Amino acid sequence: FVHTPTLGKLEVFHNCAVGVDSEGTIQFIEDECDDPSEFTLQFTGSKSSTEFEIVDISDSDRKFFFPGFIDTHIHAPQFPNNGIFGDSTLLEWLEIYTFPLESSFQSLRVAQEIYTKCIQRTLSSGTTTASYYATIHTNASKLLADLALKMGQRALIGKVCMNQNSPDNYIETFEECKSSQMEVLKHLENRDPKAEFVAPVLTPRFAGSCTDELLKWLGQLRKSKDYHCQTHLDENHKEIEWITGLFPQYENYTDIYKQTNLLGHKTTLAHCIHLLDEEKDMLVESGSGVSHCPTSNSSITSGEARVRWLLDCGINVSLGTDCSGGFSPNILHVAKHALLVSRHLVMKSKNDHEKLSTSDVLYLATMGGANVLKMDSVGSFAVGKKFDSQLIDMACKDSPIDNFEFQSPKWGELKREESLKKFHDLIDKWVFNGDDRNVSSVFVNGRCVSSRL
Ligand code: GUN
Ligand code: FE
Repeated sequence: FVHTPTLGKLEVFHNCAVGVDSEGTIQFIEDECDDPSEFTLQFTGSKSSTEFEIVDISDSDRKFFFPGFIDTHIHAPQFPNNGIFGDSTLLEWLEIYTFPLESSFQSLRVAQEIYTKCIQRTLSSGTTTASYYATIHTNASKLLADLALKMGQRALIGKVCMNQNSPDNYIETFEECKSSQMEVLKHLENRDPKAEFVAPVLTPRFAGSCTDELLKWLGQLRKSKDYHCQTHLDENHKEIEWITGLFPQYENYTDIYKQTNLLGHKTTLAHCIHLLDEEKDMLVESGSGVSHCPTSNSSITSGEARVRWLLDCGINVSLGTDCSGGFSPNILHVAKHALLVSRHLVMKSKNDHEKLSTSDVLYLATMGGANVLKMDSVGSFAVGKKFDSQLIDMACKDSPIDNFEFQSPKWGELKREESLKKFHDLIDKWVFNGDDRNVSSVFVNGRCVSSRL
């Protein structure tokens, strides 16, 4: 079992047994345990395998469990456009590629096909929790929630709100937005106890697509029930200039969200690349979190977010694929891009402190996401947490990773520290060379929801 419970720290449990009850909660974690049935006997009072199931991975030193990834910013309807962005930047990209595709979700047949594929693909890439942007359409947003629940992925579902500066065939009036939003909330909230798995997130697309009136209504709604909220912020220079021009009554881009009550401890702000100092202070004061989307930021030429600076200021930071601004639905790829982008910053600033390590980016991919989304029960392995996990096999038949025997950690033979160092090297290999082919199975709440076996 490998995880990153704190920033920069990779923890490895060798020969470890983790016990999960029928509610998906971790009941025990026993390090250096040679016979897991001893512990099941102790905890269940039974050795009968009809009462519990053992997943034994001791046959290979290239297999390990890692916490499921948490993608805090992904546009499910944009899935077919992954990889298609040409040389556009944000505002043209929205008009040329994005709005035409999203408008087609008027059709439930289109939504069913694309949302199913998107959930399958993110699950099989190890994403156990996703914070989704849907479209403005009521029925398609409800369908996304139903599919996530059925397929077993934890999800926040954001019906997108936009009532200005949008194409004629992809826009709603303030009144339409209010009634659609309330209907989606009702659909999501009338499903207790499953609400634990799929919950709503208020989603003004960005200030550019929403009138002041709509932002204020959403801000009031957010405060009324401490709802999750997500939007885009400070992604691109032209976007910032345009949006601050649309809202001259506010001090800066972040102030638009602050004054309309959209900032808060359950608010996720995607990108945050070009934040001013005073905007950063507003995030700190409100406890809002950041979704860092380096794949998207590089693809549509938005810029390099200063992640170390945000972390040093005490802001929670997580990772988002931002499909299809980003081309990959796999958070492992985004983690590696986060690491590379941090090195590009260092090449300019000459300040090594900005460099993110493998452990740092794996933390952002798991615990960082749990912190931003305020989901205390996921992100790492601990007694009382839910078992959301991916089983990684670095030596599976079609593995993209070259494995050499001499690089295996040999527990017992080598000194413990030497074995640990070798294990850290293997994790680096996984991060840089691995992909979804190495994800053998995925568990959400203790239940296997995706498997390549
Ligand atoms: N800003 C407003 N809408 C979008 C979107 O769909 N993707 C990204 N990356 N930025 C946006
Ligand atoms: Fe986005």
